[in-house]
Amino acid sequence: MKLLLKAVTIASAIVASPALATSWTLDPEGSHLAYGSIKKDTVGEVNSFSSLSGHVSPDGKVEIEIDLSSVETNIDIRNERMIEYVFRKTGTATLSAEFDMQDVADLNVGGATTVDADAVLSLAGTDVEFDAEMFVARLSETSVMVSTNDMVFLSTEDAGLNAGVDKLMELANLPGITRTVPITARLIFTMDDKKAGVAAGVPTTVAAAIIDGDVKAGKKVFRKCRACHQLKEGRHGVGPSLHGVFGTSAGQADGFKFSSALQGSGVTWTVETLTQFLTDPKGTVPGNKMQFPGLKKDEEIVNLIAYLNEEAAD
Ligand code: HEC
Repeated sequence: MKLLLKAVTIASAIVASPALATSWTLDPEGSHLAYGSIKKDTVGEVNSFSSLSGHVSPDGKVEIEIDLSSVETNIDIRNERMIEYVFRKTGTATLSAEFDMQDVADLNVGGATTVDADAVLSLAGTDVEFDAEMFVARLSETSVMVSTNDMVFLSTEDAGLNAGVDKLMELANLPGITRTVPITARLIFTMDDKKAGVAAGVPTTVAAAIIDGDVKAGKKVFRKCRACHQLKEGRHGVGPSLHGVFGTSAGQADGFKFSSALQGSGVTWTVETLTQFLTDPKGTVPGNKMQFPGLKKDEEIVNLIAYLNEEAAD
């Protein structure tokens, strides 16, 4: 089993970036998208959108939806005019981009890098392509921040927005509004729940846990289990020996009296099912007799699994 897991690990390290080979969801609270506008050559203003949503697929495809009706110009009537004349009540704009996830794969928590993204903004029926250099920082095991590295400029003409801007000038009786719009973005993405992979049994997630895990730290986490579990084959205590647990069916180890709940659960221990079980033993297999509340931190589980993969396998 250890060899097999190693093989999966190596194979997926080649085909995908292990640490980030998972999907990510935009955190609207921590994210911010703003653009600037200059009127009469001198008066600069910042507008932003308060409602964003988005997603990054494991292969680096980014899709961000901007709710255009959430535009905030700080003046109500101006918000209405923007929505009606510039955005032409088109609801949402979509920003799609593609990232080379390999560039970000090796980022440790606290690490940062810049990546080039080819992006397309689809707004009111027009697609505008642009390149943006983005600054990417890994904030935690499960979150990354992506922000514009330099100012990104969008031409209102390319975006098909000139007629709307003309209308704004007319309505507000302004001699001029700039036709090049600077844009800045700060986007926070959080890793999708690891449990989402349980049913699908995605092997890259397996590999990710093992590559990411710190075996030494996992050994410390195992102290929480040691009162009841040993790793030597056949050595049962309050709980069963966890020797060779990966790949086995739950509740089958010889010589231990399991609860019928665990024995009849139909669970096979993989990284995913074990992650789920260790997060919430009672909720995952109701009626089982393991008196343990569960591990609350993903990091603890990832490390523990790396340790079990090393130590409990041979
Ligand atoms: C207080 C004792 C206790 C602690 C602490 C404890 N367990 Fe258990 N564990 C048990 C018992 C008892 C069972 C058998 C449950 C049943 O039969 O319903 C079990 C079952 C298991 C199983 C299923 C084994 C199989 O063969 O199906 C796994 C995996 C497991 N524990 C892992 C852990 C890990 C990892 C920890 C530490 C993070 C831990 N346990 C902490 C008592 C404990």
